[in-house]
Amino acid sequence: MSDRLPDAPHLLVTGGAGFIGSELVRQVLARRDGTRITVLDKLTYAGNRANLAEVEADPEQAARFDFVHGDIADPDVVGLLIPNVDAVVNVAAETHVDRSILDPEAFLRTGVIGVHTLLEAARRASADGRPVRFLQVSTDEVYGDIERGRSRETDALAPRSPYAAAKAASEHLVHAYHVTFGLDTVITRGSNTYGPHQYPEKLIPLFTTNALAGEPLPMYGDGMQVRDWLHVRDHAAGIDFVLRHGEPGEAYNVAGGNELPNRDVIARLLEAAGRDWTLVRTVPDRPGHDRRYAMDGSKLAALGWRPRVAFDEGLAATVAWYRDHPDWVASARSGDWDAYYARQYGARLAAGQAVAMAEPPGEGAG
Ligand code: NAD
Ligand code: TYD
Repeated sequence: MSDRLPDAPHLLVTGGAGFIGSELVRQVLARRDGTRITVLDKLTYAGNRANLAEVEADPEQAARFDFVHGDIADPDVVGLLIPNVDAVVNVAAETHVDRSILDPEAFLRTGVIGVHTLLEAARRASADGRPVRFLQVSTDEVYGDIERGRSRETDALAPRSPYAAAKAASEHLVHAYHVTFGLDTVITRGSNTYGPHQYPEKLIPLFTTNALAGEPLPMYGDGMQVRDWLHVRDHAAGIDFVLRHGEPGEAYNVAGGNELPNRDVIARLLEAAGRDWTLVRTVPDRPGHDRRYAMDGSKLAALGWRPRVAFDEGLAATVAWYRDHPDWVASARSGDWDAYYARQYGARLAAGQAVAMAEPPGEGAG
């Protein structure tokens, strides 16, 4: 199987101070194979330099690492950085569906203008004789709601939230630059991801931190929506694998193989946190809420990659990580957190109802 990057490559990882990006940086630098990484990150509410502390504290890794505070939509900074790298791994995005419903504009700015800015610089550098491989990190949400079966890479994109629409727009731009300009591109579509260092606004980190604090867990609708869960270590490993072995112009599903209704996830999470269903509230549903995501991972499996982390073990370790890092959680929940929480959940929780303690979690995947 060919390696599509030179030895000891220099990578530009955008969004490297976030959840998945920082795991990718830690994983690749810990391999100690000479790879250099420059992170470009805007440090939005979700970006946190503390996520990269491990790398910066290790002299051998720190010598192969640079951090640049900036925006992927800024052509000046992007134009300076890209001519020096062998590959761009675009992890940067606005990533929370609920925030995309409250305020879609930032999603489009980063997902469309930002991605275009990166692609232009990569096209120019490649045309000037410095070939740049471009990996776009995407999501299973571009396929939209899938009632049965599993989405394959050849399926049409049918995004339904502003977040998913911005991600699909990014993908279309990336594909257009491959077809039109011959840019060497690959796309990964990852499942719902969980693990340490995730900003505590999405289902697993929000419900974990709320459960540990004894606060209510706002479950949307009937809680029977199905997601496929992928541990962050596997997600980062899948991105790294596609970067080195993916065929130019192709997209790859990075599936977790853990399709579960939200109720099941919540029940397992409560058990790991030592809490019970008295904390759960059913609250008014998310508008346009996708009922089910499920992906077929066989294309990447045929290339030789599979996820490794078992869901229950990954979840228990994640809950333990949040329990052991109260300072990290407190810092994430500073700044605008209270205003966001009130806007997103205030009226919902006021209208919500307690879920009876005896109510069993839902059965099986949908
Ligand atoms: P995150 O919200 O934890 O981190 C995003 C990072 O991008 C932050 O560090 C932020 O500061 C940075 N960023 C945002 N806008 C930027 C800009 N304009 N310029 C530079 N940096 C910017 O996100 P995550 O959960 O780690 O997701 C990373 C990627 O993976 C995203 O592209 C997301 O769409 C995709 N993805 C996430 C999941 C998931 O469940 N978390 C699943 C599938 C795909
Ligand atoms: P989320 O983690 O936001 O990921 P996504 O919407 O990208 O799949 O949500 C996962 C599931 O959990 C989804 O069905 C919505 C549900 N959910 C709740 O029930 N309550 C919440 O407070 C959140 C954030 C999510």
